Amino acid sequence: HPDYPDADFHDLTDRVAHPEIVPGTRTEIWGAEGLFPGPTLVSRRGRRTVVRRRNELPVPTVNHLHGGHVPAASDGFPTDLVYPAGTGAMAGIPGMPGMPHDPLAATSVGYRDYDYPMDQRAATLWYHDHRMGFTAPDVWRGLAGFHLVHDDEEDALGLPRGDRDIPLMICDRSFGEDGSFRYPALDPTLLATPGVQSSFMDGVLGDVVLVNGAPWPVLEVSACRYRFRLLNASNARRYRLVLDPPPPGGGGLVQIGSDGGLLPRPVAHDALEIAPAERFDVVVDFSRYRAGDEITVRNAFGSGGTGAVLRFRVTGPVHDDSRIPDRLSESPGLDPALAEVTRDFRFQSRGGEWRINGELFDPARPLVTPRLGATEIWRFVTDFHHPVHLHLAQFQVLSRNGAAPGPYDAGWKDTLDLQPAEAAEVIVRFTGYRGRFVLHCHNLEHEDMAMMATVTVV
Ligand code: C2O
Ligand code: CU
Ligand code: CU
Repeated sequence: HPDYPDADFHDLTDRVAHPEIVPGTRTEIWGAEGLFPGPTLVSRRGRRTVVRRRNELPVPTVNHLHGGHVPAASDGFPTDLVYPAGTGAMAGIPGMPGMPHDPLAATSVGYRDYDYPMDQRAATLWYHDHRMGFTAPDVWRGLAGFHLVHDDEEDALGLPRGDRDIPLMICDRSFGEDGSFRYPALDPTLLATPGVQSSFMDGVLGDVVLVNGAPWPVLEVSACRYRFRLLNASNARRYRLVLDPPPPGGGGLVQIGSDGGLLPRPVAHDALEIAPAERFDVVVDFSRYRAGDEITVRNAFGSGGTGAVLRFRVTGPVHDDSRIPDRLSESPGLDPALAEVTRDFRFQSRGGEWRINGELFDPARPLVTPRLGATEIWRFVTDFHHPVHLHLAQFQVLSRNGAAPGPYDAGWKDTLDLQPAEAAEVIVRFTGYRGRFVLHCHNLEHEDMAMMATVTVV
């Protein structure tokens, strides 16, 4: 693009579309390029990527690159609204009615250019809407997609690639009779049903699981290794994914990466617990099965429509020169001795409100102001299930409840799944960019109910 001669440039328009998700019906979605999931973007480490997001939806949008190490102006701060084209009169109105006023909001009309230096390791990132107070319904309608980063270190490993490197976006939805997405909080019949208000406190759960936008899909696979980048893009649902049947000897899900990229070494799992916004990069070797086998990925936390995720059908053996090296990545850990501050964050509800350290989200008032370059220890304490997410920086888990990190805590993380009444300690270093970012619960209903804090890097 002439404005950005040194960058990979993507021009995406957010619009309404009506794909056939449930056979025989049409579903209104909101999607980048009218797609759900949106187009998968691919970047190279160190090569600048600019994404122009145009808004042709009936509401303002905010686009966030989840896991991105990006300048504050391109991070998708919840009040940096992009108003639909032609709504010039709304420009300059920061925030939304009923929301705290944010004098610092940087709004635009029609489109915004998000500028990503891609100064970060190979990893599975994703983009999604982040509009203050409305992220949950916007993402539910479809505003989410993958953004993959590759680098030389990853290329040299010989992992499965090309059409054997497949991102899988897993999320739950509910449908009305006419095929429309049903968002329970907006559904008057449901709201009148006893018990619905309390279940909504857990966030909004659907009754069907979609993989890359399709219910209960089948993937034909050759009897060889495949890399799957698993993303839980659900508003609130947690999954425990298992292969059924497991391969002989077990350990069929070989984790090679986490939110922030490759692990130092592969870790074989029989099951993976994945909370909203987490990514697990796994290799499955279908040569451990026989041609003709059908393998189901099940969610052991669900049943019926939420227990069945997807199916693989194994065709014949093929030539496979991919491998999973014992050493994947050199990425030294942060040293707790260098931490200059320890901070506590209590994720707690109070009177039906979701708060961090007793505070509701205030975009204009930072809860914490880490120094650029600082290494810090952050302690998260919860009352309830909360997938805790930090923008800008990836962290490493030091401990859970005073003991060793859990089986799914390995590597660099930007989202940490916390059970009710848990405490975890992570170490993080703030590099690259000053300015406003956020820390929040990634249960999107909790997030919209203001369980979010402004983190201003100074
Ligand atoms: Cu995936 Cu602040 O978000
Ligand atoms: Cu994020
Ligand atoms: Cu929460």
